[in-house]
Amino acid sequence: MSTNSRPYIFAIAILLAIFGFYNYVVYNTDGYVAVEKLSPMAVKGQQLFQNNRCWSCHQLYGLGGYLGPDLTNVYSAEGKGPTYIKAFLNSGVKSMPQFTFSEEEKNELVEYFKQVDETGIYPNYDAEIEATGWVKLKYRNETSEH
Ligand code: HEC
Repeated sequence: MSTNSRPYIFAIAILLAIFGFYNYVVYNTDGYVAVEKLSPMAVKGQQLFQNNRCWSCHQLYGLGGYLGPDLTNVYSAEGKGPTYIKAFLNSGVKSMPQFTFSEEEKNELVEYFKQVDETGIYPNYDAEIEATGWVKLKYRNETSEH
């Protein structure tokens, strides 16, 4: 090996070391994989949501049936929350049937809505009709308008 190839080998060794360190950090950092996991209680709530066909009338992130409102943020919406959700389950309303869930099941559904709510906002904008007849979208959690 000629003496003047040493700097290159040295440089490659350093790059390999940095690459190795980078991979180690990326794959060993908690929370790097942004997958939201539901707690066991929320999973039970999710099963209740599916088995009772809530989705045939309701949406999460806009997906589902359209007879009832989207429930993505029903947990944190102003004037809504656990008691409000349970009231609908207790009494039913209009086309929404009355359900006979146990208190535990109601809590599981509420926990499911809580954890779904924590994943984001839907829809994430409000539409405003301007005097010109154009629609202006105002994104939530943002100060600037688009
Ligand atoms: C047959 C259709 C239908 C089914 C099935 C149904 N709902 Fe509803 N739900 C509605 C309608 C319609 C409303 C809106 C009533 C109103 O406010 O006028 C509603 C309202 C709600 C609300 C209040 C939402 C809000 O933002 O005001 C909650 C919470 C809710 N339903 C939960 C559920 C859950 C949980 C299930 C399943 C266990 C379910 N619903 C099944 C039709 C349905």
